[in-house]
Amino acid sequence: MSENNLFLKAIHKKPVERTPVWIMRQAGRYLPEYRALREKYDFLTVCKTPELAAEVTLQPIKRFGFDAAILFSDILVVPEAMGQTLEFMPDHGPKLTPPIRSAEQVERLTTAEIVDKLQYVAQAIKVIRNELDENTALIGFSGSPFTLAAYMIEGKPTRHFKHIKGMMYREPQILEALLQKLTDGIVEYLQMQIRAGVQAVQVFDTWGSVLPLHLYEPFSARYMKEIAYKLQKNGVPVILFGMGGIDHLIQLGDSLAQALGVDWQTDMEQAIRLLHPEYALQGNLDPTVLYGSKETITREVERILKIFGKQNGHIFNLGHGIHPDVPLENVEHLVQEVRRISAELRKADD
Ligand code: CP3
Repeated sequence: MSENNLFLKAIHKKPVERTPVWIMRQAGRYLPEYRALREKYDFLTVCKTPELAAEVTLQPIKRFGFDAAILFSDILVVPEAMGQTLEFMPDHGPKLTPPIRSAEQVERLTTAEIVDKLQYVAQAIKVIRNELDENTALIGFSGSPFTLAAYMIEGKPTRHFKHIKGMMYREPQILEALLQKLTDGIVEYLQMQIRAGVQAVQVFDTWGSVLPLHLYEPFSARYMKEIAYKLQKNGVPVILFGMGGIDHLIQLGDSLAQALGVDWQTDMEQAIRLLHPEYALQGNLDPTVLYGSKETITREVERILKIFGKQNGHIFNLGHGIHPDVPLENVEHLVQEVRRISAELRKADD
């Protein structure tokens, strides 16, 4: 590990001179250089062309000097590699066809070709690692089994999740077969990313939050924990991120992950009390604070950093992805303030 890689030090709960910072969805539409590239190429072309994916991954690093880069791709390339057709509809979000609704369809999906079909991801990782300073960590990722299953079964973004939840209540064994297949495929996919050079992996469970608490463990958390368990032997830290507040988060508290992502609705003090220092914690500024004034951004950054004080094991991030229309200068201000305030807090006398 490079001595100056603050992200890796923090995830291993080692002392740092300031808190590392990166932002979920840091490569994307809020950046003019991203929008310019997207005028020439559609989203999936960028994902599937290693040089373009690498360029976009590095855009926010060049502009803001984040302490970690996250591979540019999408969670939905996995269902595509398993046999569904993936399209991104302008203004309507992703579409997967045909939606998975039966045991036969689950049976036909295959994880056998994930590593082959997603070689473009491994290639992108190699290009990025070549260009990235060793002080900046490279994070790989996957969607969680439940979140991927939600898109695969619903077929498109939805508010009520009636197809996946209907299946869970009507024919849970079909959903369980899909979740297990996804878990096996995700482990292989993340191992491929690790072999290609990522230094940490994050599992995004955006939709586990639509499960009632007593069903979060059996239908989402347990599969995320299986992924963390199976990735242990690679020696690469795992971050589990979900939405749903502290009650959902503590369900991940018996995992072998190194870090937990704290969503913006969760009280960081409570998260620390219940999960730290066993886990490094990542988060959790409300993404809409970036629509506020500079003073508000400073105040909110300071509030979160002060909860940790001098404790090790904090990675600063938003509590969910950045919105595409936030002012760039506010992002710049956020990064500056995390650096300034966290360094001052560490230097201060007790
Ligand atoms: O964080 C990063 O910068 C890395 C890249 C990344 C993207 N998507 C790029 C992207 C990551 C880690 C994701 C994860 C992802 N994708 C999640 C889980 C995390 C989360 O934020 O909730 C989910 C649910 C998806 C599925 C997805 N991809 C949706 C619903 C959409 C459309 C909505 C939207 O924001 O446009 C996407 C498209 C997408 N993925 C874009 C980007 C930059 C926008 C594509 C474009 O129009 O250029």
